[in-house]
Amino acid sequence: MTVQTVHFSRGIPPREAIPSTAIAGLTSAVLTAEPDRVFQYAPIGRHTGDQELREQLGKFHSVDPDRVFVTNGSLQALDLLAAHLLRDASEPQVLVEAPTYDRAVQIFRRHGARVSGVPLRHDGLDLDVLRERLRTEVPAFLYVIPDFQNPSGVTTGEDKRRELVRLSAEYGFTILEDIPYRELRFSGTAPTPLGDLAASADGARVLTIGSLSKVLSPGLRVGYVIGPPGTPHALAVLAESIYLSPAPLLQVVAARALADGLVRQNLERIRQLFQPRHDAAVEAVRQTFGDIHLCIPDGGYYVSVHLPIRTDEEAFLAAARNEGLALTRGSAFYPVDSAPPPGTAFLRLPFQALDPEEFAEGVRRLAAAAEQAV
Ligand SMILES: Cc1ncc(COP(=O)(O)O)c(C=O)c1O
Repeated sequence: MTVQTVHFSRGIPPREAIPSTAIAGLTSAVLTAEPDRVFQYAPIGRHTGDQELREQLGKFHSVDPDRVFVTNGSLQALDLLAAHLLRDASEPQVLVEAPTYDRAVQIFRRHGARVSGVPLRHDGLDLDVLRERLRTEVPAFLYVIPDFQNPSGVTTGEDKRRELVRLSAEYGFTILEDIPYRELRFSGTAPTPLGDLAASADGARVLTIGSLSKVLSPGLRVGYVIGPPGTPHALAVLAESIYLSPAPLLQVVAARALADGLVRQNLERIRQLFQPRHDAAVEAVRQTFGDIHLCIPDGGYYVSVHLPIRTDEEAFLAAARNEGLALTRGSAFYPVDSAPPPGTAFLRLPFQALDPEEFAEGVRRLAAAAEQAV
């Protein structure tokens, strides 16, 4: 086998996971039917997204469309929510899982937050640590990725979800749940979304952030927020002051893809595509390193490990590069007050784009890099 560099660095959908031809067909039909609408601004003045798209997203998540606000990708949802939730607080604290999605931390810090990590276990946050932290300071919000987390692959278990929602009500903080990978479950039963649990817990506040990037196409740039009815309007006012109007064409095409069942069909297809890659990745890690993975994900894009190394992270990454590996720096997934266990490197290993032999070859190279001492 001739494998050049093994890329463990990018969490993007592989080409074969995006139904480009079908989306192109829908786009062409929309362009023919409604050119005047899609080449005009979207309505100005508290526009919360294309009406049909909000209805389809409402159906997809079984929520009232009036609770949906559409963004240009979910990272923008995070940015708008951070602006919305942090605007009146001075140096507010934001709690995140450690490790977590690095771009989210950058956004929260840009909006003036002190971001602090709570350790993540195989089934979600360490709740003892969280309760301890809540006793001294109540955060502006807690950011979690409860399904097949980026970067660890961890899914928050049902009991922990219930306790998180209870704590939100008891202490009066908001939970942001970011769920781009939720639908990519290959086996097992999905725990209840935090947003659904909050609906029956008096005083709990959960805002849900979703995305079509991992289930349909990242190029359409469709993300969204599901919140109580006032939230879409508050976000619409903020959004209009930044970009005036979203791109109507992309939202209308996304609406048609949901309405025609393309998203559901594509989900079926990519679950079948990714499951063997997931199984092979879990097996390769287990055979080479034993049980050092943070969890067996059963879905999503990522397995992750705390890999014992004989050098510091910098030297390990240099050794990995020499072995022909492209890795993301694992410590970058930890907020500044957190770190992987001493003597280990945290590694996010995306499996969604790698065939089993390529992944196994990557793991062999990792083992070789980890063995190298200074
Ligand atoms: C947890 C998480 N949130 C948000 C995003 C951004 O997605 P989008 O393409 O919707 O902006 C990603 C992308 O990888 C992600 O992993």
